Amino acid sequence: MIPSVANNSVSVYLGGLSCDPLHPFALDLNLNKPCSSASLFWNCKGRRKRENSIIMASSCRTNNFLRHVESMKLHPSGAGHISHLNAVILGESLATEEDDFVLPSEGFASQANVQSPEQYLKMYKRSIEDPAGFWSEIASEFYWKQKWGDKVCDENFDVRKGNIKIEWFKGGITNICYNCLDRNVERGLGDKVAIYWEGNEPGLDGTLTYTQLLHQVCQLANCLKDIGVKKGDAVIIYLPMLMELPIAMLACARIGAVHSVVFAGFSAESLAQRITDCKPKVVITCNAVKRGPKAIHLKDIVDAAIDDSAQNGVSVDVCLVYENPWAMKRVDTKWKEGHDIWWQDVVPNYPNTCPVEWVDAEDPLFLLYTSGSTGKPKGVLHTTGGYMVYTATTFKYAFDYKPSDIYWCTADCGWITGHSYVTYGPMLNGASVVVYEGLMVEGWRMILHGWHYHLLEEDKPRSHHKPRKSMKHANLREGLIPNRDFERKLNKLILLPSKSKCNFVQEALYRPRKSMKQATLTKAPNYPDAGRCWDIVDKFKVTIFYTAPTLVRSLMRDGDSFVTRYSRKSLRVLGSVGEPINPSAWRWFYNVVGDSRCPISDTWWQTETGGFMITPLPGAWPQKPGSATFPFFGVQPVIVDEKGVEIEGECSGYLCVKKSWPGAFRTLYGDHERYETTYFKPFEGFYFSGDGCSRDKDGYHWLTGRVDDVINVSGHRIGTAEVESALVSHPQCAEAAVVGVEHEVKGQGIYAFVTIVDGVPYSEQLRKDLVLTVRKQIGAFAAPDKIHWAPGLPKTRSGKIMRRILRKIASRQLDELGDISTLADPNVVNQLIELADS
Ligand code: WTA
Repeated sequence: MIPSVANNSVSVYLGGLSCDPLHPFALDLNLNKPCSSASLFWNCKGRRKRENSIIMASSCRTNNFLRHVESMKLHPSGAGHISHLNAVILGESLATEEDDFVLPSEGFASQANVQSPEQYLKMYKRSIEDPAGFWSEIASEFYWKQKWGDKVCDENFDVRKGNIKIEWFKGGITNICYNCLDRNVERGLGDKVAIYWEGNEPGLDGTLTYTQLLHQVCQLANCLKDIGVKKGDAVIIYLPMLMELPIAMLACARIGAVHSVVFAGFSAESLAQRITDCKPKVVITCNAVKRGPKAIHLKDIVDAAIDDSAQNGVSVDVCLVYENPWAMKRVDTKWKEGHDIWWQDVVPNYPNTCPVEWVDAEDPLFLLYTSGSTGKPKGVLHTTGGYMVYTATTFKYAFDYKPSDIYWCTADCGWITGHSYVTYGPMLNGASVVVYEGLMVEGWRMILHGWHYHLLEEDKPRSHHKPRKSMKHANLREGLIPNRDFERKLNKLILLPSKSKCNFVQEALYRPRKSMKQATLTKAPNYPDAGRCWDIVDKFKVTIFYTAPTLVRSLMRDGDSFVTRYSRKSLRVLGSVGEPINPSAWRWFYNVVGDSRCPISDTWWQTETGGFMITPLPGAWPQKPGSATFPFFGVQPVIVDEKGVEIEGECSGYLCVKKSWPGAFRTLYGDHERYETTYFKPFEGFYFSGDGCSRDKDGYHWLTGRVDDVINVSGHRIGTAEVESALVSHPQCAEAAVVGVEHEVKGQGIYAFVTIVDGVPYSEQLRKDLVLTVRKQIGAFAAPDKIHWAPGLPKTRSGKIMRRILRKIASRQLDELGDISTLADPNVVNQLIELADS
């Protein structure tokens, strides 16, 4: 049966066809009912055109092209029936107009792990009706020393019925490292590449097979045991994306130690805070890391953090330091004899086999700190068994993983994405993973827009350079790099913020012209140029590429030519994570990067959820640009209103989850009460995600961003309270209120309203000092984009800051301020508006 055409309208996409729009009608487009209006899209010499009101009417005839639409009659998650036929496809699909479906090609769907909405619905239904049966079947594919007890899952999700408890596979004895490595070697994958490592410098790379990785993990595991690390002990890992980072995680897991990876962009203060909280036996780090031409001395940061935590009564016995010879020589590294150990001096001397510490499924695997609505980060705790089963399964289905795939996730292991989808999920599937040292964060990519810089030649002491000619920075604006020659020269230079006017010291080397628009600096993803990602994709023949919208937007701005000059023909699935992907970035990713051929898995999930929660299954159903689509197996998302009442069908509200899933976090380390208060008390009976979400008429989920005091900057969660407490620690800052504002590339930017102590004048220097304070206390990625001087803040009579008003002022939506009469002093609003551009 061909589905009926509701609303008398239909849209037809015709991709890659000839210019004659009527010609395709010779194809099998036959609908079962006349329709009075139709939109026809076609692709004419690369341009997309739209023609309305083409009348189609015809007899019925089923054909393959309508396969997906036909089977889209039912949706999960309470959305009921599909409301009307939105699109059918002939030929190749094109993502064009918002709210239209993009269908997977027939070729893709027929080879996919889940091939149709019916297949998904069948599996989804079973996962909800019989979670124990569904998940234990999957869990049986892993190695368990001893099977779990009678209860596959034991949970209390409702604070009214007692303490929150989530347990999966309790009593089952296993080890995730064994399942990632030994099991794969035993299955005959020993010679398969586990990690392709690519350095920040082009040409610097390395590989490890599963056997080699196992050996290296065992050596480190033996070393840690020798140092005295035992089951249940915490180990902090503060490393950049070297192969040693996943090695360290796996080594901890092998001996039952609890790793806590701290992103190597965090400051000494932030690291100290985490050390003080989890009291690790060992900190694993490296001496330095190169960010472009600059070496960041990570060991110095760790030293400062260890000193700091010692003052709080927490001492760390050992600091294990990997010598990163490309960044810094041993002799230049500050050293504490008796406390510091060079990795290379000791680890290779240990045997390359190490017995596994068998642990209970509910024993902790790792802690990962994440921002919350207070200044203190939350130690999200994940356990072993459920996390293992969940990350492996979500990886397999959401990326349609096949053993021949080469998979690249651009995330750093300092965040949850690097835990679940660089390390554990892929390796549990025996995948080959590309690990890229370069950081995929916009923060490293500075745009010379409105900035003043000195350009200094690398490797020469500063005094050699005297500014010779003053240039107006206006010549350097956002835009494209004019030519590769310019880039090459620029990449040899260090750019330093200048106090004076912009002076180009190396004018002999490079003389800016009017037409030169943008200087892109030395850091990935555009080091040495904006094509680096696609260079890596071609180099390793990457088939699955998983990244963040911020990266997509930033590369999109650099222009298509950086993409199209590479083949990318190996790509077959794309992925997005970290924040909502706006439809235009989605389309660029789909049409330009994926050549309108690769489905995009826009995966919604969180540190707390351990793995994907709402995600497309490529091949299973049509996509809508910007929608994370439908829940993964076993996940029951609900949208509630402010009273916590579940809303059905088409709606908007707060995103919650009913019932547990195996990958859920079990507690906040050392603070179960905060766990319950933050996540389970706001809407009793549900897990509250902190995100807003709407569901459209077809049941698709659209994430709308955080509804709490968390800002999502380039996919990094930053609590407004953390930034505020850093700001007020400055002696001249009396009060601060931080809000998020829309940012073209980063998704959200940090906007800080700052009240300074009486009598201190506003000054440019103070502004810089305040930004520096935040960089120092949290990390460069949390530096405010804007400091707005605020003689007073809009407060209610009870003293609560009205952030709603601040958000409107920050985004200059001054006609939407709403009612300000309830403020203790409404005049502050005008004052703030006047000072907006000061
Ligand atoms: C946001 C990252 C929309 C969301 C895995 C969530 C997203 C927070 C998406 C978690 C997505 C993540 N669409 N929003 N596909 N993925 N988010 O803990 O606000 O670093 O609550 O985990 O990122 O960030 P976290």
